Amino acid sequence: MSDIKYSFGLWTVQWQGVDPFGEATRPHLAAADAIRKLAELGASAYTFHDNDVWPITATEAERQAAIDSIKAAGEETGMVCEMVTTNTFSHPVFKAGAFTSNDRNVRRYGLRKILKQVDLGAELGATTFVMWGGREGMEYSNSKDLGTAHARYAEGIDTVAAYIKSKGYNMRVALEPKPNEPRGDIFLPTIGHAIALINTLDNGDIVGLNPETGHEQMAGLNYTHGLALAMYCDKLFHIDLNGQNGPRYDQDLVHGHGNLLDSFFTVDLLENGSPNGTIKPYVGYRHFDYKPSRTEWTDGIWESARANMDTYELLAAKSKAYRADAAVQAAFDKAGLLDSSTTLAEGESFESFMAEADPNIEELGQRHEGLVWLQQLAVKHLIG
Ligand code: GCO
Ligand code: MN
Ligand code: MN
Repeated sequence: MSDIKYSFGLWTVQWQGVDPFGEATRPHLAAADAIRKLAELGASAYTFHDNDVWPITATEAERQAAIDSIKAAGEETGMVCEMVTTNTFSHPVFKAGAFTSNDRNVRRYGLRKILKQVDLGAELGATTFVMWGGREGMEYSNSKDLGTAHARYAEGIDTVAAYIKSKGYNMRVALEPKPNEPRGDIFLPTIGHAIALINTLDNGDIVGLNPETGHEQMAGLNYTHGLALAMYCDKLFHIDLNGQNGPRYDQDLVHGHGNLLDSFFTVDLLENGSPNGTIKPYVGYRHFDYKPSRTEWTDGIWESARANMDTYELLAAKSKAYRADAAVQAAFDKAGLLDSSTTLAEGESFESFMAEADPNIEELGQRHEGLVWLQQLAVKHLIG
């Protein structure tokens, strides 16, 4: 393996296959065992929701025993905890959301549950706190006051960020957009929506994104483009890599087992940045949020976990070869990708710009960009 660092959510390998139509197809997997096994496969870090490790009904002593068990597994294996998150979606109390619930008692309880997990994350050394608001939405557009709901969502996020600052923790918040599922419509459905709300926050400097491959693709959007926007805005704080085949339910497949070509371009952007360097390569864990298919027995959990890292390694190596290929660089150059010039010259006046004679548009309209050839070069690198 390369020196790329991989991390996994504990809930991924712990998923027992429960879906809206069927019960569990696999036994329960203890969090500490998941950490040990992921370490064995070559992962460097783990991430978790509070209730992946102890039930919501746990006493303080039970919670502490569960925390001690993952700490021990971490010390034993060298696996670190790089991100934590909170389950504000499973229990019926959150059926209408946490931060955007119409009930103030629910909102206050949800916020306290989240802040407790922030404290634990800091204690474990996590530097990212993810917030996926799976229940922050509605089935019917009249279920909430839409203005108040967004204001409360913003207040909740801002409060978490303010709390982190007040405690002096080395931690940033990463919002995870998703268009729908489990709610009919989830607030902050895409990367762009989330960035817009972040820009209204008082503590938005430590709030960014945790975009998931399948979530953008569920909305028919281009995940790689979304990542590029987040990177351009310095807001790509964390990442959930997985696989998806277009708009449908959230498949959470192994990374690369859905839209492979888009996975290639995702890895190419993360590993190499943009062709002319406007976007720098991603630093941070390559984090997987996938579900081992429910057809699989326990061996399949580990085969699929390994497949995420294998596929990423393969795509990373192929992306390096693609960028190093002189034909690819020539095609980039021909298409104009290596030019990062601005449209107006520095200090150029509107007067001189407007006075400039138009170019020969017939001639300009006939230029050949060679984009199909460039794409074929990518395909050759990918499957040739
Ligand atoms: C999903 C989500 C969740 C979140 C997780 C972290 O599949 O709908 O991705 O898995 O990532 O809850 O908060
Ligand atoms: Mn998902
Ligand atoms: Mn996710």
